[in-house]
Amino acid sequence: SNNLIIAIDGFSGVGKGTLAKALADKLSLPYLDTGLLYRAVGRKMLDAGLSVKSNEVVQIAEQLTQQDWNRNDLRTPEVDKVASQVAAQPKVRAALLDMQRHFATQQGVVMDGRDIGTVIFPNANVKLFVIASPRVRAERRWLQYTANPNDPVKEEQIKQIELELTQRDEADASRAVAPLRPAEDAHIIDTDYLSANEVLVRALEIIQR
Ligand code: C5P
Repeated sequence: SNNLIIAIDGFSGVGKGTLAKALADKLSLPYLDTGLLYRAVGRKMLDAGLSVKSNEVVQIAEQLTQQDWNRNDLRTPEVDKVASQVAAQPKVRAALLDMQRHFATQQGVVMDGRDIGTVIFPNANVKLFVIASPRVRAERRWLQYTANPNDPVKEEQIKQIELELTQRDEADASRAVAPLRPAEDAHIIDTDYLSANEVLVRALEIIQR
């Protein structure tokens, strides 16, 4: 079909969500943050007191609705952790696969995650792989969440966020199923020294080529 599919992958905190939203806006495409799917499954798993490998968790993934991933309690450290645990379960990933592909069928999509260019849309029109150093990512997270520039424990907080980020990176990149890696035809964008707008401009250049 003629639907434009833009796949954006990268570790957490690299700025891919910001980029994906801006691109979707600019190109008038629907946007899906697939991290929210795994977060919603993790959240529901916690609420129901289930264990990660149970069949009930697979059922939760199969029955997931937009309402579940629009919840506003999905970005907590607790959910960060369980999301990456459920995301390592092959059956959970399989349960979410068609839903993600289906999302693009009407009007195309800008989709961000870990395996969009490698597994979900291997034939995406454009694949972007966004990177940033752990330190820069931790600083951005800190600004988003805690941000008091005079906080005496600022440095410790940033270090702690950086530690958690790199542990999650390690889990996402080393898991057996859909490990995070750039697709062979992905364009790498390093956001360390770029503003959000500069990242957008670069991505648009790549898309328009
Ligand atoms: O991107 P975000 O940090 O919200 O993703 C939460 C977790 O969901 C990640 O740590 C990762 O384990 C998982 N995830 C995934 N595949 C995706 C999107 C997210 O495995 N496409």
